[in-house]
Amino acid sequence: MSQPLLEVHNVVKRFGGLTAVDHVSFEVMPGRIIGVIGPNGSGKTTLFANVSGFQTPEEGEIRFDGRVITGMRPSVLCELGIARTFQIVQPFAGLSVFDNVVAGALRGGRTTLKEAKLKAAQIIELCGLQPVSTQMAGVLPIAGRKRLEVARALATGPKLLLLDEVMAGLRPTEVDDAIALVRQIRDSGVTVILVEHLMRAVMALSEELLVLQQGKLIARGDPHTVCNQPEVIRAYFGEAKVPEAPTNSQKSTHHA
Ligand SMILES: Nc1ncnc2c1ncn2[C@@H]1O[C@H](COP(=O)(O)OP(=O)(O)O)[C@@H](O)[C@H]1O
Ligand SMILES: [Mg+2]
Repeated sequence: MSQPLLEVHNVVKRFGGLTAVDHVSFEVMPGRIIGVIGPNGSGKTTLFANVSGFQTPEEGEIRFDGRVITGMRPSVLCELGIARTFQIVQPFAGLSVFDNVVAGALRGGRTTLKEAKLKAAQIIELCGLQPVSTQMAGVLPIAGRKRLEVARALATGPKLLLLDEVMAGLRPTEVDDAIALVRQIRDSGVTVILVEHLMRAVMALSEELLVLQQGKLIARGDPHTVCNQPEVIRAYFGEAKVPEAPTNSQKSTHHA
C-alpha cells in the first residue's frame, strides 16, 4: 500500500468574516485524477491556493509526500513537486511560447539552461504547442494560452498538478484535446487534481470527485454516485439557475 501523495486535514481559510474553505479534509493517492466541482465562490480556487502555498490556512494541516507543508512558500512547494495553473492565465506576454515554458522549467529547481530547454521542448511537444512555439505568448488565442498555462506548470516537473478551469472557454474539439492531454499527463506519472465546470470533462477524467459548497466538502467519491446525491443536486440547483420571471410578451407563450 502506497501512502497518499496529498493529505488535506481540516483546512480552514477565512477572508474576514467569510470562511472560503471550511474544515476540508481529503487525501489523494499517487497517480490519480481527482475532480473538484462546486458552484462559483464555493472555495475551489482558494483550496488550490492553500495547497500550493499562495495562501496559508488559518487552521488545519497539509501534507505532501508524507511531510507537513502547511504555510510553505510557493517556490519551495514548486521544488518539492506541486504546480498549479491559474484561472486567469498569466504567461509572460512578451516572451515566446517556448521561452515561457523554459521559464517554467527553470522554476522547478536546480537545472541548467540547457536542461531547461530540452525539458521545455518535450513539454511543448506533449502539449501540442510546436506550431506556435516561436510566437509571443500574448498573441495566442484562448485555447493556446490555456495549453501554455498547463505547459508552464508541467515544465516545473511536478508530482502533483493542480489545474484550475483549464477548459473554460474552449470549443468542443479543443475540450476533447484537453481531456486527452490531461490523461497523457497522468499517464506520464503526474497526479492531477482538476477544478472544472465542464461536466463532460469532469466525468470523463475524474476517478474521484470532490464537491464543495460554501467552503464545505459536501460529497466525495465515485463521480456518478456523487452526482446523484441529493445534496449535490441541491447545491447546483440552488445556484441561481432559477429561470428569470417571464416578461409580458413571453407570458402568453410560456408556462413558468
Ligand atoms: N483574496 C480574497 N479575498 C477575499 N475574499 C476572497 C478572496 N479569494 C476568494 N475570496 C472569496 O472566497 C470565496 C471562495 O472563492 P473561490 O475560492 O475563488 O471560489 P471558486 O473558485 O469555487 O469560484 C468567494 O466568496 C470569494 O469571493
Ligand atoms: Mg475559481
